Amino acid sequence: MGELRDRVAVVLGGGSIGPGWGIGKAVSVAFARAGAHVVVADRDLSAAQETLDLIIADGGTGSAVAVDVADDVALGACLEAVLAEQGRVDILYFNVGIGKAGPSMDTSAADWRRISDANLTALHVAATKVLPAMRAQGSGVILATSSIAGMREVGYPHLAYGATKAALIHYLRLLAVENAPFGIRANTVVPGLIDTPRIEKTVASSYGGAGLEAMKAARAAQCPLGRMGTAFDVAEAALFLASDRASYITGTELLVDGGLAATTRRPESA
Ligand SMILES: NC(=O)c1ccc[n+]([C@@H]2O[C@H](COP(=O)([O-])OP(=O)(O)OC[C@H]3O[C@@H](n4cnc5c(N)ncnc54)[C@H](O)[C@@H]3O)[C@@H](O)[C@H]2O)c1
Repeated sequence: MGELRDRVAVVLGGGSIGPGWGIGKAVSVAFARAGAHVVVADRDLSAAQETLDLIIADGGTGSAVAVDVADDVALGACLEAVLAEQGRVDILYFNVGIGKAGPSMDTSAADWRRISDANLTALHVAATKVLPAMRAQGSGVILATSSIAGMREVGYPHLAYGATKAALIHYLRLLAVENAPFGIRANTVVPGLIDTPRIEKTVASSYGGAGLEAMKAARAAQCPLGRMGTAFDVAEAALFLASDRASYITGTELLVDGGLAATTRRPESA
C-alpha cells in the first residue's frame, strides 16, 4: 500500500512475550508493510529482533533496539539515537503494558510505581523527547495501546493496570489538543480481549484455573462477535490512525473490542 512510505516509526514494546503474534509485533510489521522504516524497541532484544526479522523477510526496513522504557535515561538515549540516525520520528507507537492481577490490597506502593513507570510515565518521557522534532517538522503521530480495562472492570481485579490504561487515554487527549497547532495528532487504540501469547502467561490464572482452552473459550464468549480479537485486528486500527487517512482524527480513542464495551451481558449468556 505504501501509505507510510518515507516515514520513520518507533514502536516501544514491539516484541512479544511468547511465540506468536503480540500486538506490538503486529503493529510493527503492519507499519513496515505500509512502507515505514520501523525501529522496534523492547526490553527483550531477542523479541525485538524476531519482529525485525519478520519485517526484513517481508522486504521492509528497520532496526531492533533493547530498551527498558521504565529507565528514563535509557529511553531518552534510545530516541535521541533514532533522531540522530534517521533525522526524524514521524510515528511514536507506545505499546508497553504491564500489570498485577489479584486483590488490590496486594498491590504495594512499589508495585504501583513499577506499573505506572512502565505504562504511563514512559509514554510521557518518550513523547516529550520526540515532540520538539515533530513540532519542527510540522507533523507527527503519537499513539498508544490502552485497554478495555482502562474503561471497564474486566471481571477480576486489575487496579493499577486499569488505572494507568485509563490515564493513557486522557493523557493523549490532552497532548493532542496542545500539539494540534503543530500538525501533530495523538490517539489511543483500545483493544478488548485479544488472543496474544501474553494472555497465556498473565491472564489465565484470573479465569478460575480451568485451563488455557477454557480461558480462551470464556473470553471468546464474552465478546458479541463471538471471538477474541487478533493482534492484526488491533494493528489495522493502529495503521489507520498512523496514516493520513486519519488526518482529521485526533484526541480520541478507537475501540477494537468486537462489541464488548457496548454490552452489559448477563453472566449466563457470556
Ligand atoms: N492481549 C490482550 O488481550 C490485551 C488487551 C488489551 C490491551 N492490551 C495491551 O496491548 C499491549 C500489548 O499486549 P500483548 O498482549 O501484545 O503483550 P506482550 O506482553 O506480548 O507485548 C508487550 C511487549 O512489551 C515489552 N515490554 C514489557 N515491559 C517493557 C519495558 N519495561 N520496556 C520495554 N519493553 C517492555 C514486552 O517484552 C513485550 O514484548 C499491552 O500494552 C497490553 O496492555 C492487551
